[in-house]
Amino acid sequence: MNILVINGPNLNMLGIREKSIYGQKTYGELCDFILNTCRDDGIDVEIFQSNHEGDLVDKIQQAYGVFDGIVINPAAYTHTSIAIPDALKAVNIPCVEVHLSDIYSREEFRHVSYVSPVAEKSFIGHGFAGYKQAIEHLKGL
Ligand code: DQA
Repeated sequence: MNILVINGPNLNMLGIREKSIYGQKTYGELCDFILNTCRDDGIDVEIFQSNHEGDLVDKIQQAYGVFDGIVINPAAYTHTSIAIPDALKAVNIPCVEVHLSDIYSREEFRHVSYVSPVAEKSFIGHGFAGYKQAIEHLKGL
């Protein structure tokens, strides 16, 4: 199995940004966690991060015919982007949504996810563990 993990804007700032919400661990540590999880589960993985909506759309389109599953944390674009769920629908690759924080217990503008309706499942507010849950959910499909 070959999966693509996509992380949206500002997730590269983990360990620096709003530590009380996102924790002390860095983006490098998140990538190591994902790589170790996939290695243990016998899954091939590519991790991609961008701060640019169009780059995220391009990456989803390029996943067509290449990856069996997508794990995506669209970060702030979760609440604003139509292009990202459109791209996920276009490629029709099983997709699982992850958020480190519990978006539903934060500001009201975070309560809407345009990605949730196109995701097989969403893991929300479980920190790094949400990525493991998402990867293992894809494996079980
Ligand atoms: C986030 C939640 C979003 O609301 C926020 O804009 C992020 C990160 C999370 O992982 O908790 O950047 O997706």
